[in-house]
Amino acid sequence: MRKHKILVVDDEHLIRWSLDQNLKKQGYEVTTAGSGEEAMRLVQEESPDLMLLDVQLPGMNGMEVLEKVKETEEDVIVIMVTALGVLETAVKAMRLGAYDYINKPFNLDELAIVIKKALETQELKREVAQLRSTQPKKFSIDGIIGESDEQKHVLGMVRKIAQSDAGTVLIQGESGTGKELVAKAIHYESGRADKPFMAINCAAVPETLLESELMGHEKGAFTDAKNLKKGLFEMADGGTVFLDEIGDMPQGIQAKLLRVLEDRTFRRVGGTKDIHVDIRIISATNKDLLAAIKEKSFRNDLYYRLQVIPIFLTPLRERRADILALVRFFIDLFNKEFGKSVADISEEAEQFLLEYDWPGNVRELKNVIERAIILENAEIMQLEHLPRELVSQASGDGGGPLEFILPPEGVDIEDVERELIKQALDMVEGNQSKAAKKLNLGIDAFRYRMKKFKFL
Ligand SMILES: Nc1ncnc2c1ncn2[C@@H]1O[C@H](COP(=O)(O)OP(=O)(O)OP(=O)(O)O)[C@@H](O)[C@H]1O
Ligand SMILES: [Mg+2]
Repeated sequence: MRKHKILVVDDEHLIRWSLDQNLKKQGYEVTTAGSGEEAMRLVQEESPDLMLLDVQLPGMNGMEVLEKVKETEEDVIVIMVTALGVLETAVKAMRLGAYDYINKPFNLDELAIVIKKALETQELKREVAQLRSTQPKKFSIDGIIGESDEQKHVLGMVRKIAQSDAGTVLIQGESGTGKELVAKAIHYESGRADKPFMAINCAAVPETLLESELMGHEKGAFTDAKNLKKGLFEMADGGTVFLDEIGDMPQGIQAKLLRVLEDRTFRRVGGTKDIHVDIRIISATNKDLLAAIKEKSFRNDLYYRLQVIPIFLTPLRERRADILALVRFFIDLFNKEFGKSVADISEEAEQFLLEYDWPGNVRELKNVIERAIILENAEIMQLEHLPRELVSQASGDGGGPLEFILPPEGVDIEDVERELIKQALDMVEGNQSKAAKKLNLGIDAFRYRMKKFKFL
């Protein structure tokens, strides 16, 4: 961890000296100033994290220093050192933005605790501020990567929906295609961004609990309802509710949800009063809802209410134009996260990623890149760095040992090689990377052989 910097301001040499010694021993970096003017200069030059500031200074006094410092360097923690019993000064100092004060003569142990606490508080504040500033950004539309026409269309929809106040969106797509990501982007790009985004997975909550999770319950509504509890709809007021896996919502609750969709009104479990909320409802599913309707497990009327605006996310294998952009995005992301410096990906690995079927969609691709980056240190990501089970499954080997029978008169191995290259190319209509895969060769090695045998 970085050493914290402390600036000690006192006109008494002995106090400066003893604080300097003592604080250095505790692991801080210390500078000292004997006057207010010097302190002002050092605040600019050193940007200390914390100042111990004596009130009584010749020339510019401690209060004036405090006032000036807070004008420009709001972040620096100032602890005032006051003469015992001058409470007014202390109060005034706090008003001017001092973090705390201690009385002179002070006890060094006590001082150490005050300093430690102040620095910890500041550290926490910084973390919170940082999270606040990155969190919404993380879910902004810029975090959705897409080059394909399909994905560009989705991005356009996200923008339009966010800007309008269209209330109800249904996102459909296979697992891992980015449904939750899209839901969050709609919320964080919209005027509702500073209100809550509340998500619930309808498949993960037992039916008996789901209703009270969504609508809340009154005190005494059932045995365990010891207190009134607000549900998700109420807590998200002004913001967005994300109903994930809506296809698994139990029938009884589907009817109640219908009413919420119609007029944003519901009752808490055990309640008699209608509650009205202003929420956008985004739901998502990887199920075929039309099939569920046919099977009578999903209400027809609910389906039409939910999909005022439908968004379909295409499986990754049907929008391969996104693959490389996603690969680069995830390489950057995980380089940062794990302090690695993978610069590029080999042509062979790239071919593989482009042609693989991605049944787990973007999530699977993300996991593959994450794993390769964690496990390998090479600058160029190679095919061998990708999960073996994927690569071998895709190239279809593992089908038992081959049997080639050498004729008694022998062969020229170059002829065999040429023949295999030719057959492989024929089999896949001349697609080199597919042909290479048939022979378990990298594209570079394959092209080298094509040249050697004058196929190129
Ligand atoms: N276009 C994209 N750009 C960047 N990251 C993406 C994209 N699509 C998906 N991801 C990432 O892939 C992972 C899976 O996405 P998400 O959780 O949104 O999928 P899902 O459709 O909700 O899946 P499931 O149905 O399994 O819940 C997440 O880590 C998400 O950030
Ligand atoms: Mg999801």
